[in-house]
Amino acid sequence: MAPDLRALQTTPKALNVTKKKTASVTREKQVFKPSAEFQRQANLGSYAAYKKLYNESVNIPEKFWERQAKELLVWRKPFKKVLQWDAPHAKWFTGGKLNVSENCLDRHLGTARENKAALIFEGEPGDVRTITYKQLHFHVCRLAHIFENMGIVAGDRVALYLPMIPEAVIAMLACARVGAVHTVIFGGFSAEAIKDRLNDCKAKLVITADGGWRRGKVIELKTNVDKALNDAPSVQSVIVVKRTGTPVNMIEGRDMWWKEAWEGAPNKHDAKAFDSEHPLFILYTSGSTGKPKGVLHTSAGYLLGAKLSSHYVFDLKETDRYFCSADIGWITGHSYVVYGLLSNGSTVFLYEGAPNQPEPDRFWHMIDRHGITILYTAPTAIRAFMRWGDNYVLRHRLDSLRLLGSVGEPISPEAWKWFHKLIGKGRCPIVDTWWQTETGAIMIVPLPGSAPMKPGSASLPFFGVVPKIVDEKGKEVPRGTEGKLIIAKPWPSMLRTLWGDDERFAKTYFSDYPGIYFTGDGAKQDKDGYFWIIGRVDDVLNISGHRIGTAEVEAALATHPAVAEAAAVGRPDELKGQALVVFVTLKTGLTSSDKLKDELRAHVGREIGAHAKPDTVRFAAGLPKTRSGKIMRRILKEIAAGREVKGDTSTLDDFSVIAALQSED
Ligand code: WTA
Repeated sequence: MAPDLRALQTTPKALNVTKKKTASVTREKQVFKPSAEFQRQANLGSYAAYKKLYNESVNIPEKFWERQAKELLVWRKPFKKVLQWDAPHAKWFTGGKLNVSENCLDRHLGTARENKAALIFEGEPGDVRTITYKQLHFHVCRLAHIFENMGIVAGDRVALYLPMIPEAVIAMLACARVGAVHTVIFGGFSAEAIKDRLNDCKAKLVITADGGWRRGKVIELKTNVDKALNDAPSVQSVIVVKRTGTPVNMIEGRDMWWKEAWEGAPNKHDAKAFDSEHPLFILYTSGSTGKPKGVLHTSAGYLLGAKLSSHYVFDLKETDRYFCSADIGWITGHSYVVYGLLSNGSTVFLYEGAPNQPEPDRFWHMIDRHGITILYTAPTAIRAFMRWGDNYVLRHRLDSLRLLGSVGEPISPEAWKWFHKLIGKGRCPIVDTWWQTETGAIMIVPLPGSAPMKPGSASLPFFGVVPKIVDEKGKEVPRGTEGKLIIAKPWPSMLRTLWGDDERFAKTYFSDYPGIYFTGDGAKQDKDGYFWIIGRVDDVLNISGHRIGTAEVEAALATHPAVAEAAAVGRPDELKGQALVVFVTLKTGLTSSDKLKDELRAHVGREIGAHAKPDTVRFAAGLPKTRSGKIMRRILKEIAAGREVKGDTSTLDDFSVIAALQSED
């Protein structure tokens, strides 16, 4: 039944009533309605309109998706069948052919959008570049020719290890144009992590830059690629963008400068059409084993999900200037910097560097200077802004903003309200978007203009999405009860498999509840049907919005010669959401020291990347284990958080371990 929206509105009476109730009930009662002014201009302006479209999307999904796919995508060959579902494998829009880059570029040429800015780029040092749709098309066509001349053919894997610069977008679209599968590796990953990814997908080409700017310093990207390539035999060539002017070692016959490759390449390119299910990209993400998972997305369904959700979630208008602060190396950068926005013909603002360079008001400065209308960022960034102080915000107008968004982790009601008041000036709706690398597109969100917002709740399902909260057995739990979040029906932008490991794909996502997608998140639904995400229930941590598998950190530590055994857990952290704590037992005869702690932190940095460095290293004589030898992480979590160890310890093998751990520093 539809929630009674009148009852959701914050009235003095409602507030009085809620005072007597528990904190969580109070939280759920706090409701912010979009303004009438916003609603009037919204792409979806009422709850009734949302409900009507949502009901259609889940009651007659094939009809709904057929219409959306026909209306929103440019097809070279029409599809025959909307969905072939043979759990866990989905095929969407089979028989159809299209080109994803054509859908993001060519379709806007010859229209009023041709000379509209597709990208407005600001580098950390302050350099600005504007690239129109027509110019972006030229760039992409040129690179597509370069790829073809190098012998890159459809299906080949191309790795990108780049800063947030326009070339990253150009390279992604050029891959899509020739049917090559891109895998973007976040610029914070180490040489070891790059190597693992290159070898896993057997990349043929790497595109990188001499360096990128971060907090006034150069991140030496090419140097990391060189190290990785010592042990990545599939890579035949490297294209290098000159960004920072840092000296680099160019290897004759393997490496070439982007600019040199550029010269003479034609700027028109006839794009081939590819099957709807042609692979578009692989994006590695952390899981609960030491090896990252190569999430595979394909063409038509992914693009449709990204495009449709961008239109409704960000309420896109022709005049918008949209800024998403996520790096292109994460799924948010794929769906909501590149594919979803460019396919809608929007103007995307790209920023290369840190939010506090040179001062903590860099974002607010840029928003005013470029007239940004939509800001999509992460709770961890919002918490940092709060900590830096309101004064940095108050010195800027921010009057161009009309919509705000949040992604990556649950946003606390406090941070939500700060964001709403200080940045949105009470005028901008906030879209708290729940989704995952695997889902490809936003799944749970209060659509602006149609859904009242409850601070801290990702709210209601997007079109075609059927989320449910279930118990261990897969039975739906009553409203208000915590459980596991599943998605009961397939959706177009869902991952298709894990690269090279279909078995792991089936096991990870479709075995807890056979044939049904399990998200790995815990959540609950309130009486109005609003979803509240609690967080991961598996061994994946969310540190500053980055997914880090505890097993990955443990595997990295295990390669250090001093380490006998290691266990990684999260502890609550005010700024990062979660902080990483590792418990380490050393090999016999070795003694712990602060120097060794630093060395182990640096070691994880080298093995994975700086973002995965443990916040705390604790040495232990032994780790709490079950009699069968399984590490009891629940206990370590409590110790890491400084809490008393509670709950069932009957399976613990050696009680003295706990006392020893608690007495450690
Ligand atoms: C978490 C990022 C609460 C969640 C797009 C999920 C969130 C994981 C939210 C995916 C949100 C993401 N509220 N939690 N709005 N958005 N998460 O793959 O635990 O990097 O499973 O995708 O982030 O992280 P990923």
